[in-house]
Formats: sequence, C-alpha cells, structure tokens
Amino acid sequence: MAEVQTIAEATAHFGAILEAQAARVAKVRQSPPPTDFSALETIRIGIIGGDGIGPAIAAEAQRLLEELLAEQVAAGKVEFGTIEGLTIENRAAQGKAIPDDVLADIRTYQVTLKGPTTTPEQGDGWPNIESANVAMRKELDLFANVRPVRVPRLGIDWTFFRENTEDLYALGSQGLTLGDLNIDFRLISRPGSERIIRAAFEFAQANHKDSLTVVTKANVVKTTDGAFLDAARKVGADFPEIPWEGWYIDIMTAKLVDEKRRTAFGVMVLPNLYGDILSDEAAEFQGGVGTAGSANIGTEFAMFEAIHGSAPRMVTEGRAQYANPGSMIRASAMLLSHIGLPALGQKLDQAMDLCSQYEKKIEMTGRDTGATSREFGDYVLETMRSADLESRWQAAVDAEAAAAT
Ligand code: IPM
Ligand code: MG
Repeated sequence: MAEVQTIAEATAHFGAILEAQAARVAKVRQSPPPTDFSALETIRIGIIGGDGIGPAIAAEAQRLLEELLAEQVAAGKVEFGTIEGLTIENRAAQGKAIPDDVLADIRTYQVTLKGPTTTPEQGDGWPNIESANVAMRKELDLFANVRPVRVPRLGIDWTFFRENTEDLYALGSQGLTLGDLNIDFRLISRPGSERIIRAAFEFAQANHKDSLTVVTKANVVKTTDGAFLDAARKVGADFPEIPWEGWYIDIMTAKLVDEKRRTAFGVMVLPNLYGDILSDEAAEFQGGVGTAGSANIGTEFAMFEAIHGSAPRMVTEGRAQYANPGSMIRASAMLLSHIGLPALGQKLDQAMDLCSQYEKKIEMTGRDTGATSREFGDYVLETMRSADLESRWQAAVDAEAAAAT
C-alpha cells in the first residue's frame, strides 16, 4: 500500500507497477515445461503445518500420506520433510508474508502440503502483511488453482480452475491512497489467461468432459475480463470437440443453487477473485469449506492445501482439536495424483467418500458434540486399510444411484 500526496507521485507508483508486471508477464511467456515426476530420482514432499487449526489437520493428512507412501519412502523414491516457520507469529516478527529462510526451504521441495495460515487484515492487531497463500502462489508461480467439488447424491461433479497469480490478488498489497481516494489495481494478462484456460481445456479433454464454462463479468469489466474471454476464444479453438460457454459471475453464482441447471456445469475456469468466491459457495454443497481440498499447480512447484483459513476462533474457543481434517486429506489425494500416483489418490478419495459422505460412522461438528481430528483421521486410516474398500465404495455409490431413481 502506498499513501501518496500528489498525482505525480501516484503516477510514479503506477509506473513502477507496470515495469514489474511487464517483466513478470515476459517470464510467464517463457515458463519451463512441467516437472516430469517419473523422471525424478527422489520426490520431496514438504509438510507446512501453518497456524491456527493448521498443524492439527495437517498432521492427520500427513499420517495418511505416510502410510500410503510407505513403500516409496522405503525405496528412497519419496522423502518427507517438515518446513518450519510459516506461522503468523514468525511472519509478523519478520514483517514478511514468507520469511526468506522459509521460502528457501520451501523451494527445496517439488511439492508441499500446507496447513492454513492466518491472513491479517487492516486493523486486526497483526502487521498488515500479505497473505502467505497469495505470496506463495506468486513466488512459486502456482498459476492453476484446481478445486474439485463432488456431491454424487446431488449429481454435482464440478472442477474449478481458478487463475491464481493475477487479477485483484496480484497487486492487492500495492494499491494507493491519495487523500480520500483509494485505488486497487486489477490486472489480467494474455499469457496468464491462456495458460489457465488451456489447463482447464486439457483437464476437460483428459477426463472426457463435454463442456466448459468461462466465468467473467466481461460486459462491465471490459478490459481485463474482456481479455480473459478473448483468451478463451483463442484457446477454445484448439479444442473443437469441447464446446464452451461464457457466463457472468453474478448469474453463475445464482445458478449453482438452481437444482435443474447446476448439474450441467462441469469444468469452470475463472479469474482469481471470482474463483475464490465461487469455489467457497460450491464447497458448501459438499458439506462446507472444511471438506474441500485445493491444488495450486505451477510448472516447477505445486502446493496442496485446504480451501479454508486457519479458523483462529476455533483456537480461542478451545475447539481446535475438533477441526475437520477432510480438506487436507482431499488435498493429499490430489497431491498423490499430481506426483504420478493416481491409484493411491483414488484410494484415499474412496476412503474419504465413505467416511464423510456415505457411511459416516462418526460426525465432525467442529465442537465436542462430534469427533476430534484425530478420531476422524483414525477412521479414514482404518477405512483405507480395509481389504474391501473398493467394493464397499462401489456398493455405496450404487445404493445412492438406486435411491435417486
Ligand atoms: C483461498 C483463501 C485465500 C484466498 C485467502 C486466505 C487469502 O480464501 O485459498 O481461497 O483468498 O485465496
Ligand atoms: Mg477463498
């Protein structure tokens, strides 16, 4: 944030932003090819506990990952490590979204599993540093935020491709104040839009989805959203077998609630802030943000996390041990697929489906009326270990389909 006194100062501030962003966009144009995990001698997985409820729910996900990857760890193919210091206390003390030594450590891992981290806002007592999530997405160029939401009972099978490095987030900490006037900057670049839209189309193609929805407000926000929509026209031409439609964010938000319309949506691609908002709404149908995982993918690095925050209220109210680790477990399943082990990811997802949607032998309520994170972790572990996991899962899916007809 910059407080300026004159229009000349404001213009200089804006000029510096333009220079830095032009350099960033030039780099996006030349980004390296994606990591080939099968060619790596060792895949390093870094665990970042975060703060608030983060360490407790990250620990549960780590336990499951370690069990699933025991063979790979024994063979030296996978290595786990812990990344310390990405806590609000340390970040505040150092006055940095991500302290330098922590960032250097993060860069030694190709993939990380990250617990939520507190994001300060103006006036909440913490220094107003940038969100660690946002900083990490920018630093590691994790441009694709992939957020699946599935509720088979309701016929919902959505995957959101949220652009993760641009839009209002890119310069969210670099707005300016001139007297009573406050301005934030929104930026959307052509290569930045094309790469996320291409990722969405490629996903649709690989998963045999027959449509794609591009969400903007291009009728009003003409320059930036207009460019995003234009990028969709260009990239879409490379995927003639996947028809796509443009929708406006306001009506899209409404139509996710429309039972008749919403099951027609599959893959959605959107600029950063719309994606942030719409994916929270979507997760609510699945049981809330506590149930949703999120992948932040770049060409060199990837980070997997919950879609929600660190829930400081749960901690101050003494309820941290009742936090739902579901989001982090779903994120772990995505991590497994990302490093080339989709069968293990599927196993974890099936165990999660049984525990959180079908069999539900224990309930998470976020308080002492329900199970603790540890108890839920044990439940998923035991379900995942059972020899008849696959058939139990299939039976539950079939029973639900039969009930629906
Ligand atoms: C998310 C979160 C973050 C975001 C916050 C914590 C900065 O809401 O991952 O969706 O807005 O991106
Ligand atoms: Mg969000």
